[in-house]
Amino acid sequence: MSESYIQSLFAERIGGSQYGKSQAIYKFEKIKRAKRAAMAAHPGAEIIDLGIGEPDEMAFPEVVEKLCSEARRPENRGYADNGDSVLKQAAAQYLDQVCGVKGINPETEVIHSIGSKAALSILPAALINPGDYVLMTVPGYPVFGTHAKYLGGRVHNLPLTEQNQFLPDLGSVPAEMLRHAKVLVLNYPNNPTGASATPEFFAQAVKFARENQIVVIHDAAYTALVFEGRPLSFLATPGAKEVGLELHSASKSFNMTGWRCGFVAGNELLVRAYGDVKDNTDSGQFLAIQHAVAHGLDHPEITEQIAAKYSRRMSALVAVLVGAGFQARKPKGSFFLYVRAPRSSVNKDGVRTKFQSAEEVSQWLITEKLISTVPWDDAGAYLRFSVTFAAKTVADESRIMSQVAERLGDVRFEF
Ligand SMILES: Cc1ncc(COP(=O)(O)O)c(C=O)c1O
Repeated sequence: MSESYIQSLFAERIGGSQYGKSQAIYKFEKIKRAKRAAMAAHPGAEIIDLGIGEPDEMAFPEVVEKLCSEARRPENRGYADNGDSVLKQAAAQYLDQVCGVKGINPETEVIHSIGSKAALSILPAALINPGDYVLMTVPGYPVFGTHAKYLGGRVHNLPLTEQNQFLPDLGSVPAEMLRHAKVLVLNYPNNPTGASATPEFFAQAVKFARENQIVVIHDAAYTALVFEGRPLSFLATPGAKEVGLELHSASKSFNMTGWRCGFVAGNELLVRAYGDVKDNTDSGQFLAIQHAVAHGLDHPEITEQIAAKYSRRMSALVAVLVGAGFQARKPKGSFFLYVRAPRSSVNKDGVRTKFQSAEEVSQWLITEKLISTVPWDDAGAYLRFSVTFAAKTVADESRIMSQVAERLGDVRFEF
């Protein structure tokens, strides 16, 4: 059959005429395939999925109730565009009371998003011209960089290493690149490293941004999920509002991934530009969903309960992994535990299996131990374990953790 003319029409940014022809299998697809193969090889066995990047529970009942009542109101039925004032006000109050960020003007310094992913895909159009550089941390969540490249921008990767507490070395950017750099994208607590920022690091980021005339975008998808103390907002840093924006999301902090709602807050001019591009991109999230999220923001104890669950699970997982020989340390927040991948495993008979990469370890863990994780080989070989595994009760959590300990207990790992 001859090739459709459509094949010749694709834009270069997605591969041009070669679009769809690559045989490369990407990481998450490899994990899926390995899981399917493991299930087929061990029918009825339980795969323990520690690779999931989203909450295992539903939104809290009161938030679901709020959605239902708001969905019945005729005034919420139409295009939401850039939103009414309900979520904006709740967001400003949340930033003040939960994060200690004073003085956010809800009308001019906050606009909702259809999730942070959507905001990260919209913002490059407001800032990136061909040739501009974006400073992105790796490993990380690549969406802003992907869209910047769609627009002819370039990405400079800043590796997150254990030696630097998984914070980027802002002094490492070459001067020539710095001249063309427009945006620094940060994300703390970080996916995948689980690392948290410090007020000192955020202060350094503000100074760096001012000195080099750069915008800071802090992706705060996990910021509210802290195990102790209050969430650390970038906007709480003196001067942050002059240089940047923060992207909050209800996905992880209120178990609302599928609902698609968050907010962008910070510098007025940047918020306005985000709103202008957004206005030409989507027609806003359903107001009933925005109001349900606003209800959540008014009840930060929901997030505290979610974080307490992750904290409990994290302590148990750290203990299990340390028992298995990993160098695991409990993070201060998020639901990710990031540990150095072993170089080899040795079984009871002394047979050694060598691993060239974290990806090989992850494939081995699924195949041999029916444990799913996410490998990262971008800045050293690491495995990401998530504590969002499916468990309905605390007893079930303990059972799953005992299973992990048992499955890892008959090998010795070498690092
Ligand atoms: C670092 C990071 N940013 C943004 C997102 C997307 O969040 P949202 O559901 O708000 O689009 C994710 C989701 O996994 C994430 O890990």
